[in-house]
Parts: sequence; C-alpha cells; structure tokens
Amino acid sequence: MSSLAVNTLPSDSQCYNATLPMSLNFRLANPSDYKALEEMVIEAFAPITWARRADQIFGPLNGKDWRERWRLRLANVFATQHVLIAESEGHIVAMASATVDQDCRLGYIDLLAVAPSCQGRGYGRQMLRRMLAYLKEQGCEHAHLECLVDNEAGNRLYRSEGFVEVARSIRWFIKIP
Ligand SMILES: CC(C)(COP(=O)(O)OP(=O)(O)OC[C@H]1O[C@@H](n2cnc3c(N)ncnc32)[C@H](O)[C@@H]1OP(=O)(O)O)[C@@H](O)C(=O)NCCC(=O)NCCS
Repeated sequence: MSSLAVNTLPSDSQCYNATLPMSLNFRLANPSDYKALEEMVIEAFAPITWARRADQIFGPLNGKDWRERWRLRLANVFATQHVLIAESEGHIVAMASATVDQDCRLGYIDLLAVAPSCQGRGYGRQMLRRMLAYLKEQGCEHAHLECLVDNEAGNRLYRSEGFVEVARSIRWFIKIP
C-alpha cells in the first residue's frame, strides 16, 4: 500500500463533475487522516444512523447529540480497529474498519462508508472487497457485519457480494421511568 498521506475530502463539486469512476488507491489510515475521516463517516451515516432517530424521539443523551456520540465512537474505532481508506485523486472517498477474532479466524467489519458526493460509483463495492482481502491477509476465513434492515443500498451491496443473512435484530430504546 502507498504511504501517501492525504487527509482531504472531495467537495461535492469534485465528485459531481467527474464523469467516470476514478481509480482508487487503498492504504491503512494514519492519525493525520482521522479528522477528515470523522467528517466523511458522519456525513455518510447522517441519513441512516439509528442514533439520529433516537435523538429525534428522545433528544440528546446527557447533552450529547448523535454527531458528538459518533465522534466518540470514531475515536474508539481509530484507536482499536484496522482502518482502511480509499483515495482518488488525492482525496479520501471511502473507508472501512474491522476487528479480527484470531481464535475463530473471523473478521468483524464495523464501518463501511463512501463520501456522500462519491456514492453510486462502485467505490463501496471496491472498498468492501479490499477489506475482505485485507481480512484474509490477517488470517480470517469468514467475515461478519451488521446492517439496518431499511438500509437498502447496504443490504443490496452485501447480498450481491455473497453475504448470507443469518439473523435480524431490533434496536429498542426507552427513557428509564
Ligand atoms: C452503502 C454504501 C457503502 C455503498 O457504497 P456506494 O459506493 O454508494 O455503492 P456502489 O456504487 O459500490 O454500489 C454497490 C451496490 O450497492 C447497491 N446500491 C448502491 N447505492 C444504492 C442505492 N442508492 N439504492 C439501492 N441500492 C444501492 C447496489 O446494489 C449497487 O450495485 P449496482 O450498482 O450493481 O446496482 C454507501 O452508500 C454509504 O456509505 N452509505 C452510508 C453508510 C452506510 O450505509 N454504510 C453501510 C452500513 S452497514
């Protein structure tokens, strides 16, 4: 992987103006990428995250809204997970993160995100394939991930890549009386 250190995101116009998908360069993220990654991941998940829906019903949790909670979550991801990024023309366009259970040779993919202005160009599929290849390099024989039932783009992508649905769950929330 290249060690090129670039930490900027494509502006809307940069991806909007590109007529063809550009070739991607994959590498592990380093600390200088984290600020741009944080921004990209939060904007990518804004339309679908359950944390935002919880805020709409219950309000911020102890004063922390969903964006702040995502920032805290991402700080933990960057500290504890394998984080891969994809760059195009010097900009971060996609990322994936995962942990590895060496005992079970199982990779847990936690996050997969494509910059909103770059979605629908095949980058998510490429990023997912690169993460699976990376997990295989780490000794994994299987991979697991979770996706909200109503995340149509995510579920279609995973099904089309051969993932098999093994369970469904519901995320419940309550203000403790
Ligand atoms: C889900 C996500 C990673 C897909 O990345 P992408 O680059 O937009 O998707 P791709 O262009 O690689 O498309 C791959 C497949 O996803 C599905 N897909 C992508 N966008 C879609 C949309 N708007 N509606 C329905 N299906 C869609 C299609 O099956 C597509 O394959 P096709 O083009 O052959 O039909 C991206 O949309 C994203 O970051 N979303 C927000 C974060 C997220 O949901 N992450 C996954 C959580 S589990």
